[in-house]
Amino acid sequence: MVSEQISSQQAINLEDKYGAHNYHPLPVVLSRGEGVYVWDVEGKRYYDFLSAYSAVNQGHCHPKIIDALQKQATTLTLTSRAFYNDVLGKYEKYLTQYFGFDKVLPMNTGAEAVETAIKLCRKYAYEQKNIPENEAQIIVCKNNFHGRTTTIISFSNDEDARKNFGPYTAGFIKIDYDNLDALENALKSTKNIAGFLVEPIQGEAGVYVPSKGYLAKAKALCEKYDVLFIADEVQTGIARTGKLLAVNHENVVPDILILGKALSGGVYPVSAVLANNNIMNVIKPGQHGSTFGGNPLACAVAIAALEVIQDEKLADNAEKLGQLFRSEIQKIVDSFDLVKLVRGKGLLNAIIINDTEDSTTAWDICMKLRDNGLLAKPTHGNIIRFAPPLVMNEEQLLDCVSIIKKTIQEF
Ligand SMILES: Cc1ncc(COP(=O)(O)O)c(C=O)c1O
Repeated sequence: MVSEQISSQQAINLEDKYGAHNYHPLPVVLSRGEGVYVWDVEGKRYYDFLSAYSAVNQGHCHPKIIDALQKQATTLTLTSRAFYNDVLGKYEKYLTQYFGFDKVLPMNTGAEAVETAIKLCRKYAYEQKNIPENEAQIIVCKNNFHGRTTTIISFSNDEDARKNFGPYTAGFIKIDYDNLDALENALKSTKNIAGFLVEPIQGEAGVYVPSKGYLAKAKALCEKYDVLFIADEVQTGIARTGKLLAVNHENVVPDILILGKALSGGVYPVSAVLANNNIMNVIKPGQHGSTFGGNPLACAVAIAALEVIQDEKLADNAEKLGQLFRSEIQKIVDSFDLVKLVRGKGLLNAIIINDTEDSTTAWDICMKLRDNGLLAKPTHGNIIRFAPPLVMNEEQLLDCVSIIKKTIQEF
């Protein structure tokens, strides 16, 4: 049945009729991907400039990752953690050495990993810092995006994400992002702070890059007040911003590191929470888990996905192409009123469209980009995020810049 050929319109109609309407996709129906390209069911080729929200950093259907998937898929896929399997331990050793932590807790999706980090942070606070039970507070930032679970949306300030999903989970304090005074005030004036949960760059909010030094100083404040620094690198991690982790730009080592998305190269849901023994050892059997977390298929895929990042020097490529991209797009900003600003780090970038937040201009531009062979998506009204796979080369990037320029010209 899945091999039956259908048209774009038929595919859209099926999703419309049988699927919950919890997304608003750009009308393009993809049926194949390879490297930086995707093809729709009618055979038109596009540059993917979203990379499944930075999950496909290694490019679509990377042969090495697919090979690992296929080999493991015909050997052993899932045992649950009721038993040991012969891949999990190897993966845990590889991953922890890769990122420099003692231990990992394997999960599947980004939101689950964030939930795991919250639980770990709270448990550590009660058991190692003697915070009175049920009193632990975690500081988060306004305009955050950490996922969609009930607890996570409890500390979102996006009305669409929150409204009518209450009652909300308590224990979170919201402060302004990129504001060290706000952080120190919260740390000083509030009792029982267990952690500070932060995105090193706010991706969903519109690729907000904090001021230079913010992360390093925030980490130093957390140390001063004995609070765990929790980095959500689900979107920024795994070479996207030009370093393996976005916190590496400021030589920050988080107490708890959250990874997802590109940990599998977009091939399979794989997420992870990393920490050292003093923190991770508070979790004992029966206290947390997931049927699929740490399954052999996920582990084999993730090892291959991380090897690709290193073998192909994708962080360096993201750094180099990111600089080229921003300098080229800056020329468009300088010549067209329609584009106000370009910002970002590595290959996580965004342009701000010169129109009101509730205008459809960014969407209309994305529709035109699609017609011209490049797929991107607005995030929060008038912002368009540009995040191609990191396996892109310079020639392809310049081709994309000319598509963007031509599209802006057409408006
Ligand atoms: C920073 C961050 N954290 C967590 C998540 C949630 O990940 P998932 O959609 O896999 O649950 C996302 C997803 O975009 C994200 O950008």
